[in-house]
Amino acid sequence: MARRSPRRKTSTRVPRSTDAAPVRAGSLAAVVLAAGEGTRMKSARAKVLHEIAGRPLIEHVVRAALAAGASPVVVVVGVQGDIVRARLDKALPGAPLLFVEQTERRGTADAVRCALPALAGFAGTALILCGDVPALPAEAVAALAEGHLRAGAAMTVLTAELTDPSGYGRIVRGRDGRIRAIVEERDATAAQRRIREINTGTYCADWPALVAAIAKIKPDNAQKEYYLTDAVRLMLAGRRRVQAVVYGAADEALGVNSRRQLAMLQRAMNERVLGRLMDGGVTVIDPATTWVHDTVTIGADSVLHPGVILEGATVIGRGCVVRSGSRLSDCRLGDGVEVKEYTIAAEASIGDGSAVGPFAHLRPGTALGAHCKVGNFVETKKAVFGEGSKASHLSYIGDAELGRDVNVGAGTITCNYDGVNKNRTVLGDGVFIGSDTQLVAPVTVGARAYVGAGTTVTKDVPEDALAIARVDQKNIEGWAEKRREKMAAQKAAAREGGIPQ
Ligand code: UD1
Ligand code: CA
Repeated sequence: MARRSPRRKTSTRVPRSTDAAPVRAGSLAAVVLAAGEGTRMKSARAKVLHEIAGRPLIEHVVRAALAAGASPVVVVVGVQGDIVRARLDKALPGAPLLFVEQTERRGTADAVRCALPALAGFAGTALILCGDVPALPAEAVAALAEGHLRAGAAMTVLTAELTDPSGYGRIVRGRDGRIRAIVEERDATAAQRRIREINTGTYCADWPALVAAIAKIKPDNAQKEYYLTDAVRLMLAGRRRVQAVVYGAADEALGVNSRRQLAMLQRAMNERVLGRLMDGGVTVIDPATTWVHDTVTIGADSVLHPGVILEGATVIGRGCVVRSGSRLSDCRLGDGVEVKEYTIAAEASIGDGSAVGPFAHLRPGTALGAHCKVGNFVETKKAVFGEGSKASHLSYIGDAELGRDVNVGAGTITCNYDGVNKNRTVLGDGVFIGSDTQLVAPVTVGARAYVGAGTTVTKDVPEDALAIARVDQKNIEGWAEKRREKMAAQKAAAREGGIPQ
């Protein structure tokens, strides 16, 4: 059981997660280290708050821990801890999270020590994860815990082999191939620096054994910090079993210490997401320029063209085409939808067989039924389109409800805002709106009614009526011919030096 309000005097605060339910410890807990500043990022923002695929680094790590079955997940915060906590509470409401504060950055072992009060009395297995190693999949974390328990080890270190191991702690193995120690680069000998097997900063340990080892760690190293990595040597000295397991997909185990590494991991994660989509039957024409969050789902036989960005909770059906330069955030697309070039859509839904774009802007609250069309330079907001309705060119449709088979002509504007209130426009089934119409809301056009081109509609239009409001046209016979004659006479007079009449 996690103790939520320790009475012992300690530098550690143990605030409860915003969720009111008590956090119960299972047999697997996790400690996520996230107190560091990340000086190498050269940022006003704490490192773990930098984002990959639309989520802060720390959120990826915490999600992986939760998905691997850890409960509670203790997050050690420090720099901008309040923001870290707020972001996680918001993203993961009700998750078994506990937050502890490390007031002074004294090293990774000290950070783990800060979790002690939160895990008081816990005698199970603990995952130790770094908040700046965001691309490690949940399956890898779960496999680490499984392998650890199967081996009956006191501690298991997840390692990776890198062509360029610089900056990481190196794994020193003995002649028997077993891990002996982890040596930080700054403390390593020239020979040790040549080792390409590195510490990913991800561990699984018997919690009481780890706690006992941490108590013995001293800051006798180049950085004068308490290194968690020293637990390996200390446990081995105490004849406890320690193992190192190599993780094959090394690029997923990398840490983010710089903006360059942030970009590298962003790409690694994106490749993984695209790989999953392609395995599921989605065509990705150019994976190098297509960016998809790992939260997005896409049905088989859909095609993503170069330069597409899909974000958040976007769900795309089967047989859809999303063309270049389009960005969809939190959108729902049915089956057989075509999103043409340079369409921007957020919190919008698009029904089966509909087509939008090119250059369409669907803002939140747009809901298009099946077989609708929203064409170029059309902006929609809180607009519901019934089946088969169309706004093909140059329009603004806001706070509107369209029935079925409505045709909105080019240049139509819903005048939804009177400076104070947003007002609704309702167009009944089969309504035909002529080009260049202004619909001054609140206004209703009854089913099957017509609105003549160029009309400013200020009053409701009854069903089956024609509304037309424009100045009557008058034709002046011969006017253009007279004008031409007058202009020619003026020009002739100017040439002769005369005074123009
Ligand atoms: C650490 C490991 C190194 C490993 C690398 C993997 C140690 C001593 N070294 O090095 O072997 O190869 O991770 O990415 O553990 N943190 C705190 N409080 C602190 C210090 C750090 O919470 O006092 C947190 C940081 O926010 C970060 C994580 O611990 O999320 C790792 O710290 P960092 O300083 O990045 O360690 P590395 O030098 O990368
Ligand atoms: Ca790091």
